[in-house]
Amino acid sequence: MKINITKFTVTSIILIIVCSISCANGLYKSNIDTKESLSDKYKDLFYIGAAINEDIIMGRDSKSENIVRSEFNSITPENSLKWMYVQPAPNHFNFVAGDKYVELGVKNNMYIVGHALVWHNQLADFMKRTESSDEFINHVENHIGTVVSRYKGKIDAWDVVNEAFNEDGSLRSSVFKNQMGDNYIENIFKLVEISDPDADLIYNDYNLYKPAKLAGVLEMVKRLQSNGTKISAIGAQAHWRLDSPSLKEIEQIILNISELGVEVMFTELDITVLPNPWKLVGAEVTQNFSKFEGDPKMNPYENGLPQSIEKQLAKRYEDIFKLFIKHQDKISRVTFWGVMDKHSWLNDWPIKGRTNYPLLFDRYYKPKQAYNKLINLIGN
Ligand code: G3I
Repeated sequence: MKINITKFTVTSIILIIVCSISCANGLYKSNIDTKESLSDKYKDLFYIGAAINEDIIMGRDSKSENIVRSEFNSITPENSLKWMYVQPAPNHFNFVAGDKYVELGVKNNMYIVGHALVWHNQLADFMKRTESSDEFINHVENHIGTVVSRYKGKIDAWDVVNEAFNEDGSLRSSVFKNQMGDNYIENIFKLVEISDPDADLIYNDYNLYKPAKLAGVLEMVKRLQSNGTKISAIGAQAHWRLDSPSLKEIEQIILNISELGVEVMFTELDITVLPNPWKLVGAEVTQNFSKFEGDPKMNPYENGLPQSIEKQLAKRYEDIFKLFIKHQDKISRVTFWGVMDKHSWLNDWPIKGRTNYPLLFDRYYKPKQAYNKLINLIGN
């Protein structure tokens, strides 16, 4: 027994050293026989992007940064450009991470996305406390004017408004709607266009495979278009599951959006492999799932992903990308919501402290079967 433990320990140490050296040297793909990157492979089809966290932006995670530089030609800041970080107090702007983020994208000639100008989440507290509508609108104008102008000509696209619709397609009751009125989305798009007329302007939301929600978003797009207000793309977030939405539902998103003459962007792609608490309790998104924390039934792959699920995940990504390739003329970008599994937000949502496997790179920065499938979909 003692000998086994020692052997195990020595093997583990050797593995860790080998992995660290190979990752640091840019050889993170030593388990795969291609030197071509994802973004090389898809360069004639659409941008391949990744959301990057503050550790990557600030240079504290060189292994992920290395993957980002090699594999992706578009970036989105996972959190760093959100209102609560950029303008935490009235007229107090913090651009430390934002500047670094943009510098990384410019240096690597990437399609740089700004995420997100107007969102009811991760908003500064002072905005929620502002009582007068005039004052609120002044803050919005100041925020957009300052942030968008700072990165004018560098940030290529803005998620202008994020998640403004309910599941039934009606407008969500947010602080922005309450203070600025039902027309607020259009007014905000106009403001952004004034500050950077050349940037691509995106409306971004999740669950657009639900017909009622998509219909609400499309109505809004038509309204903006009929008033001559610029809107370039709809961002369909794509936080999906192994079994849902169906390929048919995904195809419908692509067809319905592109019918309006705007680009389709899949802006936040990841695929959870973990059990879904809603199925167990028939609950709503707002429900608190803390009672499931630490429940092994809800966290079945803590010690590794079984081959069968790994295969299923790879097949799911392959099927989705076959569809994207079929509609390459309508899709301009596909962005993954994160670089590697360990750092995904899906380890902590909707239940904290789980072990999820939603991305293309594993916990040791190695490409997964899913990565290989996507690389092999495009001929040499
Ligand atoms: O800033 C604090 C930090 O001070 C503290 O030490 C740390 C401890 O946990 O928490 C930090 O805040 C976290 C923040 O991310 C930055 O890391 C929050 O707790 C955490 O809730 C927050 O989660 C982000 C989430 O948006 C917030 O709604 C996720 O990382 C981010 O992936 C996620 O991204 C959103 C998109 O912006 C919009 N679409 C949905 C998508 C997934 O929810």
